[in-house]
Amino acid sequence: MCGIVGFISKNKDTNFLIEGLKKLEYRGYDSAGIAVVKDGEIAVQRCEGKIRNLEKKLDDFPMESTIGIGHTRWATHGKPSEENAHPHQSAGVVVVHNGIIENYLELKEMLKGEGHKFTSETDTEIIPHLIQSFMKKGDDFEAAVNSALKMIRGSYAIAVINKAEPGKLITARFSSPLVLGISSGEYFVASDIPAILSHTNEVVFLDDGEVATLTIDGVTVKSLDGVVKEKKSTIINWSPVMAEKAGYKHFMLKEIFEQPQAIIDTISGRISEDSGKVFLPDLNITTDDLKKVKKITIIACGTSWHAALVGKFLIEELLRIPVEVDLGSEYRYRDPIVGEDDLLLLISQSGETADTLAALKEGKDKGAKIVSICNVVGSSITRVSDGVIYTHAGPEIGVASTKAFTTQIIALYLFTLFTGERLELIALDDAKKMLLDLVLIPNQIKEILEQKDTIDKIAKKYSHASDFLYLGRGINYPIALEGALKLKEISYIHAEGYPAGEMKHGPIALIDEALPVVVIAVRDKTFEKMLGNIEEVKARGGQVIAITDAPADEIGAKADGVITIPTTSHLLMPVLATIPMQMIAYAIADFKGTDVDQPRNLAKSVTVE
Ligand code: M6R
Repeated sequence: MCGIVGFISKNKDTNFLIEGLKKLEYRGYDSAGIAVVKDGEIAVQRCEGKIRNLEKKLDDFPMESTIGIGHTRWATHGKPSEENAHPHQSAGVVVVHNGIIENYLELKEMLKGEGHKFTSETDTEIIPHLIQSFMKKGDDFEAAVNSALKMIRGSYAIAVINKAEPGKLITARFSSPLVLGISSGEYFVASDIPAILSHTNEVVFLDDGEVATLTIDGVTVKSLDGVVKEKKSTIINWSPVMAEKAGYKHFMLKEIFEQPQAIIDTISGRISEDSGKVFLPDLNITTDDLKKVKKITIIACGTSWHAALVGKFLIEELLRIPVEVDLGSEYRYRDPIVGEDDLLLLISQSGETADTLAALKEGKDKGAKIVSICNVVGSSITRVSDGVIYTHAGPEIGVASTKAFTTQIIALYLFTLFTGERLELIALDDAKKMLLDLVLIPNQIKEILEQKDTIDKIAKKYSHASDFLYLGRGINYPIALEGALKLKEISYIHAEGYPAGEMKHGPIALIDEALPVVVIAVRDKTFEKMLGNIEEVKARGGQVIAITDAPADEIGAKADGVITIPTTSHLLMPVLATIPMQMIAYAIADFKGTDVDQPRNLAKSVTVE
């Protein structure tokens, strides 16, 4: 949560901070601010609300400078307000921060005792005061930052500038993401890559406990104890336009429509339909490692957890290896039974979700092999994993996850086929057939996307409903959960996803003529049962929207709205069934006029517990 940016350059820059913050607005958007050194003084502008408010403010107070830091906030300590907005300062030392300082009350009391005065309710404000306190006691700027960080308990990514040394920007991280951008004569820091992409694609990922000092002559990275670290840079092959809306009304809509390409990018170079083989070089796992695995636990949060539930079906059906699925926030606190015979599969779009990362560390400490499925190269989760399968979905900016989800399922499919081949659990002809099914998916998604007008009409008819029920069975039950989550988060309509077989055990009581029920009825072994569920809903006056690959005459008369999707193997049906779910949620939210890309109370990357 929260996004931070900073830069130092030979030339004066006005735009980077605002443009960079706009790219990070998905991380939090309840207040924002920037600080620069101008005419030898620190100049700060902050305001409540989105970056556009800050931008307007800057029309009257231009902030041209060769050094600056900025912040977009998702409130944890203290309500969204100008006083609580970052940057925070103490006598010329100015800080932006992403994370939570757990011992801030204790440190605040100590600093008050030294005479420091506080103006906000935030945990962050103690940082500039602490740095200032160490400088007063004789530390130079860098030593003071190190001393302050050593006293802090919790998570942080910070960027600091200091009026007394206007040619230096110091930045550091612990459990919150941070990336440096390297260009000639200018250096950048940001919480995420899209913020710096329009300036450079050469990046350095900072690790926990590292502190970087940026000057116009270059970047030095050291440990908190001052030991110099050699860091390698990485070239990111995302282009800046990938992080733009490209004519779409919202990022979410663009990202829904990018799914055919995202899936092509996720499978390309990784499969051979002729040989039936899957290649996952970054998985970093030997056949012997795989043979030792007695149980796979898939851990994730939110939408990624829904992909994990699909993964359980894929792996158990094809590999017959037992799979547990857990939420990061539950796993980390339940003293899990895990050891060297276990494989932990972490799924995360951002690679920065705090609970998923903590669960990973728990499993790693207990000796499990760790593999992650992730969309962001070099993110925290990938760096502590033994192996990675990257979803090549490109930057996902909309807070509601779409293309990351479908590519996560594709990555799970690839992992299953790869393991099946290595352990000789899947016959070659079957593997070839499964890969053929896979390569057809992008075009089949396009067929669904072409039905946008029809789907919009069906969705809008129900946009005034106050509740929705989503039903699915088997491998499509997680898609019912995902459909409900998408609708909830962007339209603010209450929605529940349920396994259809459980309907009679309670939720059937909800059904009346005001309740739209979205039913995934695809022609797999549960089809007849799903038709039975549709009858049960209709018999009680409910409104049925069916998502089906059955011919219209088989289901049309029973449902109030039918969205037809192409047929594929039952294992890949969740990918196709997801697309109408996303389109329904988007159409309803757009019709209601909610803030689709930045829904209230949410942030894209949940880097705090
Ligand atoms: O980056 P991650 O995949 O780890 O994020 C997990 C969840 O926070 C995320 O999927 C969230 O549920 C989305 N808002 C769903 O659209």
